[in-house]
Amino acid sequence: MRLISLVTLLFFCAAHGRPNKQDVDYDMEIALPEDGVQNDDNYYDDSDDDDNDEDLPLPVLVSKPTNFMAQENETVHLPCETENGDTPVFIWRKNNEVVFQDTIKFGSFGNNFQISNRTLIISNVGVNETANYTCTILLSKTETLNVTHELLVQTAPKIESLQVLHDNVEIDAGKSLVLTCKAIGYPRPTVVWSKKGERLAEGNTLSIENVSHHDSGDYQCLADNHIEPPAHKFIHISIAHKPVVNIEKLTVNSDEHLDSQLICYVKAVPKPEVVWKKDGVNIVRSDRKHFKHHNHTYILEIQNVKIEDFGIYTCSAYNRVGSSEKNVVLTGFPSPAEHINTFHDADKNIVVVWNVESNSPIVQYEVEYKKNSNSDWKMLHPEVSNPEGNLYTVNTTFTNLPGGHYEVKVRSKNTYGWSDYSPIIKFKNGGHHQHKPHKNVHNHEETPVVIIHEPQAFDGSGITEEGSVAQTSEQSVILQAQFPFEAQNDNTEQKQHTPEHQQQLMKESKGNGTGGVTSVLPTASLLLVTTITILFSH
Ligand SMILES: *[C@@H]1O[C@H](CO)[C@@H](O)[C@H](O)[C@H]1NC(C)=O
Ligand SMILES: *[C@@H]1O[C@H](CO)[C@@H](O)[C@H](O)[C@H]1NC(C)=O
Ligand SMILES: *[C@@H]1O[C@H](CO)[C@@H](O)[C@H](O)[C@H]1NC(C)=O
Ligand SMILES: *[C@@H]1O[C@H](CO)[C@@H](O)[C@H](O)[C@H]1NC(C)=O
Ligand SMILES: *[C@@H]1O[C@H](CO)[C@@H](O)[C@H](O)[C@H]1NC(C)=O
Ligand SMILES: *[C@@H]1O[C@H](CO)[C@@H](O)[C@H](O)[C@H]1NC(C)=O
Ligand SMILES: *[C@@H]1O[C@H](CO)[C@@H](O)[C@H](O)[C@H]1NC(C)=O
Ligand SMILES: *[C@@H]1O[C@H](CO)[C@@H](O)[C@H](O)[C@H]1NC(C)=O
Ligand SMILES: *[C@@H]1O[C@H](CO)[C@@H](O)[C@H](O)[C@H]1NC(C)=O
Repeated sequence: MRLISLVTLLFFCAAHGRPNKQDVDYDMEIALPEDGVQNDDNYYDDSDDDDNDEDLPLPVLVSKPTNFMAQENETVHLPCETENGDTPVFIWRKNNEVVFQDTIKFGSFGNNFQISNRTLIISNVGVNETANYTCTILLSKTETLNVTHELLVQTAPKIESLQVLHDNVEIDAGKSLVLTCKAIGYPRPTVVWSKKGERLAEGNTLSIENVSHHDSGDYQCLADNHIEPPAHKFIHISIAHKPVVNIEKLTVNSDEHLDSQLICYVKAVPKPEVVWKKDGVNIVRSDRKHFKHHNHTYILEIQNVKIEDFGIYTCSAYNRVGSSEKNVVLTGFPSPAEHINTFHDADKNIVVVWNVESNSPIVQYEVEYKKNSNSDWKMLHPEVSNPEGNLYTVNTTFTNLPGGHYEVKVRSKNTYGWSDYSPIIKFKNGGHHQHKPHKNVHNHEETPVVIIHEPQAFDGSGITEEGSVAQTSEQSVILQAQFPFEAQNDNTEQKQHTPEHQQQLMKESKGNGTGGVTSVLPTASLLLVTTITILFSH
């Protein structure tokens, strides 16, 4: 250390072009080490000023090492005061870098570093001024005094970097995700990680092992040290996975000369290649067949449909991770019926409602039902009402039905032929205690039996004695209203029909539901409206 000081001193002297004068000053004022014995007579002419004759009257540093705490943009004074005479040569260092040697400024230090007598004045302090500042006083070629102050500038956090290991923002499923966030500021900021508002971890590094596609998304690094404002940054991470293919409608009903769309949803990272096939052969664009694609939606549009267009199409997607595909049927036959509702009408008859899509006229419905699973199917032929567009509503009213458990399914016939059967719907009839003539009036605000809908749209609170609510893992809610006539039922049978049992039945009946995700949603909201009406009209 002394050696360095000395070298700097010599440099300083050379810079001033007056090495001789400097040497002379030293000879006069300071007992040089070569003298061996330090002689106070040599140092002070008037030794009377000094009460302590026996001590060596060398300059003493009176400034003690101090921790300075400053706010951003403040001005700080770092003292380097001595007693016992003015020593001409001093050096200020920031950490190990020389800032001043006497009044000469070094390095890249700007105007905010000033010297006044020996005090180092720093204005507009910021994060870069947080350092140890040492004032060194050169007593001789070998002897120095020094004082070190620590300056801590309170600064709001700043995120210097937010990085993913190897800069790889697309990670294969099963691998690890390692994120690093470097935040500066004083006091040292704490770093908190979160995703979608959910706190994940604290600390500069976030690692997640064995990632799956659920781990993709925007990760936030938030740095806070209670000095406003906190800093945050996002990084988007994708988890590579093979395509997930979904079909909007598994059966698309069409007719000659119509335009039809087959709609496929594909999610994949990296971006997938998607092709449409029919009978294993890739479909190429033609004047009647077009491909549309936006975001995750891939559409095959067939204009002016011909009979030979009917058949099974495949939406096939692949990327470097893998491939998947799903089929969709373009057909002239009616679509399999979609269950919409089951309720009691004003006469306590069970009414089951389905929707059927058909672009050519429906000529007949065939509803088959049976009591218990092992008896024979019986048949009903509900009348065909006018469609709305290509959507037909099948209302099936079961009159005078003995109490018990029922299964029911429907198919419909148009000019092309019979559709597939709908999935089986199960319901329970409480039994009839009176025989009213069937009226074709459906006042379903009055006496519902079974209502199924999606729980997302349903808040089960507020339902007490009147109805029991149970939620299944399959996300369906069954509301069993109590009816006066149920009291007449055989008790043992009642007991079997716990909500759990009902749920199981519902699960089973829903299990083979056709139709894409999207087509379920309007149904759910429709049913919700119905449910609310029922609850409050009692
Ligand atoms: C410090 O000064 C800079 C520039 O003049 C300004 O942008 C910043 O907001 C100031 N900081 C504080 C804490 O006042
Ligand atoms: C520098 O120090 C001298 C005596 O030690 C004092 O008279 C003078 O006022 C000081 N100057 C400043 C700018 O502090
Ligand atoms: C601090 O120093 C770094 C590099 O030396 C520079 O990029 C940055 O702008 C400085 N910050 C301030 C507030 O002066
Ligand atoms: C000052 O020096 C001390 C001791 O070496 C060290 O612990 C501290 O971190 C330093 N302060 C700054 C602001 O660099
Ligand atoms: C400062 O002084 C101490 C003794 O007081 C000494 O150990 C240290 O080496 C000195 N540092 C410098 C940079 O001169
Ligand atoms: C990784 O996660 C998957 C599910 O995402 C799991 O099946 C597998 O066992 C996990 N592997 C390890 C090594 O934990
Ligand atoms: C595609 O996604 C973007 C952003 O998520 C959205 O703004 C846009 O509406 C989407 N386009 C279509 C056609 O859905
Ligand atoms: C079928 O039932 C629905 C209620 O689900 C009703 O709105 C509609 O009017 C009924 N249609 C016929 C033809 O009865
Ligand atoms: C549901 O589909 C499975 C096979 O996918 C089949 O075994 C079962 O019989 C079907 N159930 C109904 C009610 O169609």
